[in-house]
Amino acid sequence: YPLVKPVEQDWSFAGPFGTYERSQLQRGLKVYREGCAACHGLERVSFRTLEALGYSEAQVRALAAEYEVEDGPDSSGEMFTRPAIPSDHFPSPFPNAAAAAAANNGAAPPDLSLIAKARAVERGFPTFVFDIFTQYAESGPDYIYSLLTGYQDAPEGYNQQPGTYYNPHFIAGTSLSMPDPISDGQITYDDGAPETQDQYAHDVAAFLMWTAEPHLEARKRMGFNVMIFLVLFGGLVYLTKRKVWGGVD
Ligand code: HEM
Repeated sequence: YPLVKPVEQDWSFAGPFGTYERSQLQRGLKVYREGCAACHGLERVSFRTLEALGYSEAQVRALAAEYEVEDGPDSSGEMFTRPAIPSDHFPSPFPNAAAAAAANNGAAPPDLSLIAKARAVERGFPTFVFDIFTQYAESGPDYIYSLLTGYQDAPEGYNQQPGTYYNPHFIAGTSLSMPDPISDGQITYDDGAPETQDQYAHDVAAFLMWTAEPHLEARKRMGFNVMIFLVLFGGLVYLTKRKVWGGVD
């Protein structure tokens, strides 16, 4: 049974001038919270960084307070839970990997903080030099999108193991332990975007690209400035060379 490659998508953050769409990231956060957070953690992301999605400090404070985090020990040596504050990170749904695996048929749902980079395809030298300009730079979100929209009926004669679901886009085989998590109409959007599985998958993939690479925009801007600098500097070096060596026959 063949695996299927990720389907290439158009992303606002692709290309040298790519930027995240704030409204899309906000929708993606909602999809994560309502569709994924029951199983997947986001433990490298602190609430305060959500201000980059366009939320005010007060909104972030209110959002964080909806979560309970463990803290302590207190003066009597006990651990306790309290509402999260902006400097806390998203709490994981399971206390540890063993508990996560036990609750999911033996396969622990991975933390999603860096998954968009972890599942990106890297082709090594020398192609990586050019891949910053190609679709390979967005192969992580392509993969997440394809996985979330790739569930289908297993082909005739396929030996489906109990507790697994057929999806030829899964990187490690044609079935995985994650049931199809999102379907049309499941999550309500308040900005008028279509409430379809396709849109949810795009939005959460874009959001997970942001969690994995929050400084993408600054990096691209800096890269562009560096290229301009190199061109100007190269020109100056050339003119200098002409001046210095001009009189030599
Ligand atoms: C694995 C994303 C919801 C359970 C994964 C993987 C991704 C992912 C990217 C990794 C696949 C890989 O290793 O290449 C998402 C997203 C969700 C979501 C974006 C929300 C839209 C859920 C939910 C559950 C779940 C609700 C639990 C009912 C799992 C499990 C695995 C997994 C058990 C490991 C699968 C295996 O290795 O066989 N998920 N997930 N996920 N997810 Fe989810």
